[in-house]
Amino acid sequence: MVALARRRKTRPEADIEPLGRGRRGRGALVETAVVPRKPTAYWDYIKVEELLALQGGLEPTDTGLSNDEVLFITVHQIDELWFKLILRELITVRNLFAKVPVPEQALASAARGIRRMTLLVEHVSAHFEIMETMTTRDYLAFRDKLNPASGFQSGQLREIEVLLGLSDADRVPLGDEQSYMNALKAHDGSPSSAYRRVAARLHDKPSLVEAIREWLSRTPIQGTAPGDPDDDKNVNAFIESYSAAHEKCALEALEIAKSTALAAGDAERLEKRYAREIEGSRAFLRAEDCPEADRERMKRIRAALVFIESYRELPLLAWPRVIIDELVAFEQAFVIFRQRHARMVERIIGQRTGTGGSSGVDYLDQTALRYRIFRDIWAVRTLLVRQSELPELRSADFYGFVTAP
Ligand code: HEM
Repeated sequence: MVALARRRKTRPEADIEPLGRGRRGRGALVETAVVPRKPTAYWDYIKVEELLALQGGLEPTDTGLSNDEVLFITVHQIDELWFKLILRELITVRNLFAKVPVPEQALASAARGIRRMTLLVEHVSAHFEIMETMTTRDYLAFRDKLNPASGFQSGQLREIEVLLGLSDADRVPLGDEQSYMNALKAHDGSPSSAYRRVAARLHDKPSLVEAIREWLSRTPIQGTAPGDPDDDKNVNAFIESYSAAHEKCALEALEIAKSTALAAGDAERLEKRYAREIEGSRAFLRAEDCPEADRERMKRIRAALVFIESYRELPLLAWPRVIIDELVAFEQAFVIFRQRHARMVERIIGQRTGTGGSSGVDYLDQTALRYRIFRDIWAVRTLLVRQSELPELRSADFYGFVTAP
């Protein structure tokens, strides 16, 4: 990675040209010619008239439609445009992290790209408040003509999920297998443009979560990288010392909690809960839940996450830590988008069946609870310890600081 390929002496590859100098061709500067052109008009560039002619739904124009229906169509269209921008950023970020090594100088712009994705999702969520100015009765006036159309057929949302790394196995089933793909077929069973988009995206590898995992797996931990002679030993030692530090902190917290427990029964419950937390953390770091074939890699990835979070002040770890934080912020915004959508839906249609045929609010709530991409990044939050309890850092100078005297 993580960057974290060892510090290079040579200048890393860069795809950035010096500003304003034109392109270099065989060592010589090629001047950029200014081609005379007609002045640009706002309406030509933004395609305003074309855009304003698109809110008629099933009618040729929106003239005869209620304000509620035009609002309903417009908000969906704006949200599809935000999805388009999210997808563009997502592809750029994924492409960056799929590189080996990931160019360190690009991490700041990757963080900005993820931040933009987060803000876009938050804007989509904010639109639900505008939608809520429509009452149940207003919506029922035109709802039947949507049937069986639904946001469930948003090809771009599915593309985003696939590119992030949501697997088919994790999806909330709608009844039949591959239902989300079936929903993207036209009425006669032929593939729609949305179906083709998603089908192509399913072959577009790696997903962001996988690219991030690979990047993390190369993080030097306590000064050693994969392939170094003592790396396995080093990583295992770090995991064990971190687990011990976690156990010590958890036991201290347990003592405090027990001292304020109201009844003996409470103290007993607390003991069991903390014991589970200690055991769970150790098992997580040892990747005991992962298939054996992938266990060593997952162990290293989880240790890397803990290492980056723990020693985040070190220059070489500072940007990776920002990236991790931005990914959490993005996923948090996405989960809130799902929950916010569900609350809006409940407010407008209650518990009725969705136009797409799902159980409606119940289905949407399940997706909000179940769909997580960056599970490991979330999970390490449970076991991080106070700075004073961290295992001693080895090879600090490797990460860019000379150890303080
Ligand atoms: C009155 C407003 C809305 C209602 C009543 C509504 C209702 C629903 C329901 C019931 C579903 C579940 C699938 C189904 O059976 O139809 C759904 C899915 C969905 N809706 Fe909405 N929706 C509304 C507005 C919006 C808006 C403004 C967006 C824009 C982003 C949106 C995006 C989606 C998406 C992407 C899904 C698929 C979710 C998934 O499968 O994870 N909806 N909607």
